[in-house]
Amino acid sequence: MAHTLPPASCVPRHVAIVMDGNGRWAQKRHLPRVAGHKQGVDALRRTVRACLERNVQVLTVFAFSSENWSRPEDEVSGLMSLLLMALSREVPKLSKNGVQLHFPGDAGGLSSRVLQGLQKAEQTTAHNQKMVLNVCFNYGGRWDIAQAARRLVEQGKEITEAGLCESTALAHVGDPDLLIRTGGEMRVSNFLLWQCAYTELFFTPCLWPDFDAAELDRAFADFAGRERRFGLTSEQLVTPSGAPSHA
Ligand code: IPE
Ligand code: IPE
Ligand code: MG
Repeated sequence: MAHTLPPASCVPRHVAIVMDGNGRWAQKRHLPRVAGHKQGVDALRRTVRACLERNVQVLTVFAFSSENWSRPEDEVSGLMSLLLMALSREVPKLSKNGVQLHFPGDAGGLSSRVLQGLQKAEQTTAHNQKMVLNVCFNYGGRWDIAQAARRLVEQGKEITEAGLCESTALAHVGDPDLLIRTGGEMRVSNFLLWQCAYTELFFTPCLWPDFDAAELDRAFADFAGRERRFGLTSEQLVTPSGAPSHA
């Protein structure tokens, strides 16, 4: 069915997503969990396309957390293979569509094969300008804050808020405006702990493999109705012209 695009004023500049629920999607169908992750790649492809159509500037997704290493060995190796396969299939298309790829996360924990794949994808797409896609891989919010502090210390700098902002793994894109979590859990699970200080949160029971443009637009419509006060009062947000400044 044809789907009308939301007005530009409803579209967040930077959208972050915790892509959760792949395992349950597969289990409901008596399939191995990896089958759910495979469908999850399709959902990500759809979501990237929908974000491009809506002129989202930055999309940041959580693909593999620091804690996900503790899952069964076959699931972890399945996820690594899926990442490499998705890269070889998708990077040319992403590049053609103007997507610039980044893989925020702890490179130290990855095999040289995976690391080379990620670096090559980053290099190939470095000059693209339409949208930035951050695929957080072996990422943890606590790791991010610790590595940023470590970097400042190594540079002989003081640890300040501004310094940490410039050293965390998403310094190239700024903070998300909207964080969506699929799969029904209402928690952050060590995602962007530093960057989500004033991010609007949207939780949906929709399992990640079922996520589509319609669900994305529900999140955007909800976001458009929020008043982002950043600690101020509603009255302070009204501009001299009388129009609310947060729209
Ligand atoms: C999210 O789906 C993908 C990863 C964590 C890699 P899950 O695999 O966590 O799916 P559920 O939460 O078990 O359904
Ligand atoms: C968060 O999902 C990590 C990713 C989506 C990559 P998890 O499934 O790992 O989170 P918990 O275990 O439910 O908190
Ligand atoms: Mg999960």
